[in-house]
Amino acid sequence: MFEDIKASAQGFITVKLSKDYIEKSLLKLFQNNKIDLSVNINELKDENDGNCDNVLVDFSSPNIAKEMHVGHLRSTILGDSICRIFEFLNVHTHRINHVGDWGTQFGMLINYINIHYPKFKEKVPELNNLTSLYQSAKKMYDSDKEFEKNSKEYAIKLQNDDEDCKFIWNALNNASKKEFDKLYKILNIKLDYVGESFYKSKIPAVLKMLKEKNLLTNIGDALCYQSTKFKVPLFLQKSNGTYGYDSTDTAGIHYRLQVINANCIIYVTDNGQSSHFETLFELAKKAEWVKEGVKLIFVGFGLVLNEDGKKFKTRSGTTIKLINLINEGTDRAKKDLLEKIKSKSDEEKKYFEDIDKLSEDLCVSAIKYFDIKQHRNTDYKFSYDNMLNVKGNTGVYIIYAYSRMCSIFRKANINVDDISKGELNLINQYEIKLGLHILKFPDTFYFILKNMLIHKLAEYTYDLTTTFTAFYENCKILGGDNEHSRLLLCAITKSLLKVSRKQIVIFHVTRK
Ligand code: ARG
Repeated sequence: MFEDIKASAQGFITVKLSKDYIEKSLLKLFQNNKIDLSVNINELKDENDGNCDNVLVDFSSPNIAKEMHVGHLRSTILGDSICRIFEFLNVHTHRINHVGDWGTQFGMLINYINIHYPKFKEKVPELNNLTSLYQSAKKMYDSDKEFEKNSKEYAIKLQNDDEDCKFIWNALNNASKKEFDKLYKILNIKLDYVGESFYKSKIPAVLKMLKEKNLLTNIGDALCYQSTKFKVPLFLQKSNGTYGYDSTDTAGIHYRLQVINANCIIYVTDNGQSSHFETLFELAKKAEWVKEGVKLIFVGFGLVLNEDGKKFKTRSGTTIKLINLINEGTDRAKKDLLEKIKSKSDEEKKYFEDIDKLSEDLCVSAIKYFDIKQHRNTDYKFSYDNMLNVKGNTGVYIIYAYSRMCSIFRKANINVDDISKGELNLINQYEIKLGLHILKFPDTFYFILKNMLIHKLAEYTYDLTTTFTAFYENCKILGGDNEHSRLLLCAITKSLLKVSRKQIVIFHVTRK
């Protein structure tokens, strides 16, 4: 394994991996023409890792009838990456969209609709501006006591399955999901809707269980779980008898642990909800729902700010629509592309035929990568200029590096499959450096899995592309005296970049 080992008087030990070891390990990682981590991950695992073979990721989870905001975008991108990481390891992964379809907002909306759309049931209007509907209803709710009182009654009626209320509720759900789905489609993200209302019928039995275990206390007329660590309890039944966010989450975690038998559950929301989830996990453990080795993980994240470091809002102070955000980014990407195309040959121009789709892909990839590359716990500033920069640490840069690798094989007119059969021979420092970086991949992947720190994957991928660029610029690949080995090294790098690129979801559509 080692070519040389040195110990210095200061206490440092320097080892140099042997060329033979690096070459053999690279080939071991690249089996059947693809990067295979299963062996490595099993070797790296320790007894605390548990056996995660049924994972559930609760992410995105916007609220019905409200606009999805940048916080939800962050949850969507991070959550999707986490799913992809497990899916890469062939782990069964539930992608759950725990939409807020059961909050008190529905009483308010139903009340508003009954007043303003008396014929709603006969002809359901186009509900294409739910945000303004929500805002108008909220305005009345905050200013009109009578309206507030009636809204609360409607909320109770809905929870008691009143047919008329359920009709409106359903229409609002459908309209909202249609909007969400448009965005998921652009982002190429798959999610299963299992919203708060799904757990509604399961709440009474779960509360009974908890009562029998003496885990609940009364605060006034409300039924609560008071954690040992946080002041704010979980409100499992409000004083008016209704159930809310805390109740559905409690029934939800019970269902996920005891019915779905998930052995790793991951919640992806902003850090503001960390104490809510810590309390929920504490309750699930006290209730003995969490079997040995089962993992409950909260993946929190910081805020997305505007370029001035302030809250991300429109000029008039309302939340920015995600779809507008993507549209603007797409326009900018298109401008950059049009500029690039000018100098291309006719032959090359044909790759840019579908420029609108290409610009959208570029923009989405750029947004996703920019999000993923931030340490999730820190706030970051949203900046189109930074995310679309071809030369910086951006998704766009990585896409260019990848297409350069593709073009090597195109120019050589060689099938990657034929390359992988031969031997590797790493002769200079650029080849060795690239080889060593590739060998760091299993450990990096394992670290990410253990800590849910996806930015490490972006960091790794960026370093891979820069190490590759140094190799590419200093070593003659085609027609050089080490052609076969160098092409094989390119093939491994390309395949690895394809893996990490997919996990950090930067290039989300399959292209030729
Ligand atoms: N709907 C919530 C929000 O917008 C997020 C839900 C997260 N998931 C959960 N199981 N509580 O803040």
